[in-house]
Amino acid sequence: MSNNAPVGVFDSGVGGLSVLGDINRLLPQETLLYVADSGHVPYGEKSAEYIRERSRKIAAFLVEQGAKALVLACNTATAAAVADLRSLYDTPVVGMEPAVKPAALATRSGVVGVLATTGTLQSARFAALLDRFAGSVQVVTQPCPGLVECVERGELRGPHVEKLLRAYTDPLLEAGCDTLILGCTHYPFLRAQLLAVLPPHISLIDTGAAVARQLRARLIEADLLAAGGAQRPRFWTTAAPESLGRVLPVLWGRNETVRALSV
Ligand code: DGL
Repeated sequence: MSNNAPVGVFDSGVGGLSVLGDINRLLPQETLLYVADSGHVPYGEKSAEYIRERSRKIAAFLVEQGAKALVLACNTATAAAVADLRSLYDTPVVGMEPAVKPAALATRSGVVGVLATTGTLQSARFAALLDRFAGSVQVVTQPCPGLVECVERGELRGPHVEKLLRAYTDPLLEAGCDTLILGCTHYPFLRAQLLAVLPPHISLIDTGAAVARQLRARLIEADLLAAGGAQRPRFWTTAAPESLGRVLPVLWGRNETVRALSV
């Protein structure tokens, strides 16, 4: 495997672009491949079996494209499929999970809220995460159906998003949370609207930067870090390429060629 081989990143849709941005900032020498499974979004309300199947197909495609490492830029896919992919591939497979540990360390009120998909919150991985890191901190969870679809459309602000965010955060504020975990990679794109509806003492925590650091550590460990000379990132979607093309300038910061992927 060559150090200049690309890193393959995927999500149920466009949410993983928030993580791709963090990876690109920390590791600008790496060539990045990104698959948005927007033809099958949202994963959050689907069975673990279905998500495992989708993840296998996308991972196989990325490995076929020469990926030297895989990043599941999706909390829901990690909960359902990371163990499966690790059993299938020798290459580094980096997953992600809601930032319970840093939130438990940061809270002053002793109550932390988790905004995530139903799939993540119901998973055995999430239960294990709470067992390991919540300690004496009270963790209040909130599934957020509908938010992912807003981000997929590029709708990051406005009355509809605001109404959903108020409905999902009000119970967490009433429970006394001072720290909210963005436990789905689509939600960092709603940060501005979230800050506008939340009282100023509330902190938001997401995991994109930690995933990028973890990827760097795994690449160093496997002696696979690229030395330089990154090529342009390449993008695929399982939905209409125009839909991803339309939101990329906002979510990724520039126009890119998007290819259709049918797996
Ligand atoms: N972006 C995903 C996550 O981090 C899942 C969104 C969805 O498809 O429901 O959980």
